[in-house]
Amino acid sequence: MEHKPLALITGGSRGIGRCLVRSFLAYTDVLNVSRTPAQDAGSAARREPHELHNLSVDLADVARIEPCLGAWFDAHPGHRVTTLIHNAAVSPLGWLHEVSPAEVDQAFRVNVYAPLTITTSLLRAGRFAADGARVVYVTSSLARPVPELSFACLGLYSMTKAALSRMALIQSREFELTAPNVTVVRAHPGIVDTDLQRDLRRHPRMDPAFGVKTAGLPPFQEGEWRDRSPKDHMRTITPEFSAEFIEWVARSSDATSDEYDFYHAEEFHAARREVGHQENTTI
Ligand SMILES: NC(=O)c1ccc[n+]([C@@H]2O[C@H](COP(=O)([O-])OP(=O)(O)OC[C@H]3O[C@@H](n4cnc5c(N)ncnc54)[C@H](OP(=O)(O)O)[C@@H]3O)[C@@H](O)[C@H]2O)c1
Repeated sequence: MEHKPLALITGGSRGIGRCLVRSFLAYTDVLNVSRTPAQDAGSAARREPHELHNLSVDLADVARIEPCLGAWFDAHPGHRVTTLIHNAAVSPLGWLHEVSPAEVDQAFRVNVYAPLTITTSLLRAGRFAADGARVVYVTSSLARPVPELSFACLGLYSMTKAALSRMALIQSREFELTAPNVTVVRAHPGIVDTDLQRDLRRHPRMDPAFGVKTAGLPPFQEGEWRDRSPKDHMRTITPEFSAEFIEWVARSSDATSDEYDFYHAEEFHAARREVGHQENTTI
């Protein structure tokens, strides 16, 4: 039986995820998992009609994930996952001595247990495409164990992203040994102008050092990185630009367990400059 490729994206209702859903619909069916459904904006540029499916699940309710996914795939037996993007996350804010045990529990459920459960359920049920699938975990620079990226008020969020990142690395090794058709990568999506970023910036108890760091990051203007490297001239980017990068990570042919970092992905930016150059010369 010929299988239909499927991109499973979490958190496609808003922010970066919404743009990811729209990009992937250009060439594959998409299953979005979030509490509110993702909307298909449609596009005249789309050659084939690909379907958007929504599975409304609260990812904090981890016990529901496997049965819900199982029921969906039972109803769509022809689909196999070629791309799985773990994008949904919550950003619990507060100093570590102030966050409640319930907040800690909720954050780890959504940001760590849910992604782990989704990937392992799909693996156990044989839902990944046998001829190649890619799992992308959306991480954050705040996951890195370095003092300059360790901010008060962002402790719980940083802890969950660190756990996710470590989990992805181990899973990458395990899949190499047992399921080599599935590659696992991590992607830091950049500093992106979304609800999540706005919540961080306007929180009254945020570490002043975070304010200083983000105040120096004006919005990116197209063309700014033509002669300068993004890593030396960091900017806040749009969710569309970030989604373009994650899509590139998901589709790039060389699998690596290293983290892809938006600002350091020279190949991505060079390819984008090349397309921009060609577009400018054809006009
Ligand atoms: N924005 C940045 O600057 C930045 C930087 C580094 C990393 N990231 C990472 O990038 C990813 C996307 O971030 P974003 O800025 O686009 O976030 P966002 O705008 O806040 O969107 C979060 C998405 O996650 C979903 N979600 C949240 N809680 C959920 C739950 N309990 N169950 C199901 N879905 C849930 C939301 O859908 P519903 O509310 O409809 O459920 C929404 O679609 C996250 O993993 C984030 O950590 C972002």
